[in-house]
Amino acid sequence: KNNEAHLHGAIMTERRILVTSALPYANGPIHLGHLVEYIQTDIWVRFQKLRGRRCVYVCADDTHGTAIMIRARQEGRREEALIAEMQRAHERDFAGFDIAFDNYGSTHSPENRRFCEEIWRSLRQADLVVERNVSQLYDPQAGTFLADRFVRGTCPSCGRPDQPGDSCQCGATYTPVDLIDPVSILSGAKPEIREAKHLFVQLEKLHDFLNEWTQSGDHLQPEVVNYLKGHFLDEPLRDWDISRPAPYFGFEIPDSPGNYWYVWFDAPIGYIASTQQWCDRHSGRNDDWWRSDQTEIHHFIGKDITYFHTLFWPGMLKVAGFSLPAKVHIHGFLTVGGEK
Ligand code: MF3
Ligand code: ZN
Repeated sequence: KNNEAHLHGAIMTERRILVTSALPYANGPIHLGHLVEYIQTDIWVRFQKLRGRRCVYVCADDTHGTAIMIRARQEGRREEALIAEMQRAHERDFAGFDIAFDNYGSTHSPENRRFCEEIWRSLRQADLVVERNVSQLYDPQAGTFLADRFVRGTCPSCGRPDQPGDSCQCGATYTPVDLIDPVSILSGAKPEIREAKHLFVQLEKLHDFLNEWTQSGDHLQPEVVNYLKGHFLDEPLRDWDISRPAPYFGFEIPDSPGNYWYVWFDAPIGYIASTQQWCDRHSGRNDDWWRSDQTEIHHFIGKDITYFHTLFWPGMLKVAGFSLPAKVHIHGFLTVGGEK
């Protein structure tokens, strides 16, 4: 009660709440599973606004990556045309369900590029970036490296045919290079193994910080705290591969020509970029939202993308001097007939 009385005084009017939902991929329509998240976030935001809090809800389309590049190619048009059309469809569907974003942006925006560059500079300055060669399957017909899900082949462990590039029905996990008789699902060609330079972020150097941030405080649900401890933090954190060689649809890395930031690097930065667009329309200052003790940042996400938001993302924010999330709210999957 005392706290509440206090909050109704000076502090409450100052308190700001920034809310995000995960950015939907531009390579598919909004489906019922997405709405589980956007509707619950929207309800939470409406509650905060009714309570008189200064609350801003931002989101954006997540536009980069191989899938978009390939689809644009297949449809014979530029990626920009494809993502613009998808964004219109997404915004139409959100409007149809009364989801009231304060700003809906795109990761393919000048604002996002600028924040990517800023965070990248910080990672470099903190000496967290290393280069290594990576062997990956390459589709000579499509002229592109193949993400795991673009390769199928025989499981090296049990011999089952036609399994995806990263794991088999039998439970085995492997890299696509280990697959027997791999086939590119893009062209049907037999992929070659090629080496390319990749850039990695040495997350292990942030281990103490991530341990502290995830395991104490009230940022995460208890089961998430345990999951991170049991699956990641009880051993050295692996380097995070954050670049992809050309051709790739994304932002080229300024100090590494021919290499692009992996979509999962620039996607969460889209939260900051979307906030910037809101600020530009409302004469606000982005630092009041992203570098201020007065602002609480709340992310709503599904459990499949937990480690991006609870390890990589806090690491990036910390290194670049942005505020850390007050809370990452993590929901489960919508299942229909027992299936995700
Ligand atoms: N597009 C991703 C997905 O659908 C979510 C990105 S959330 C972000 O899984 F914050 F990282 F952008
Ligand atoms: Zn198998």
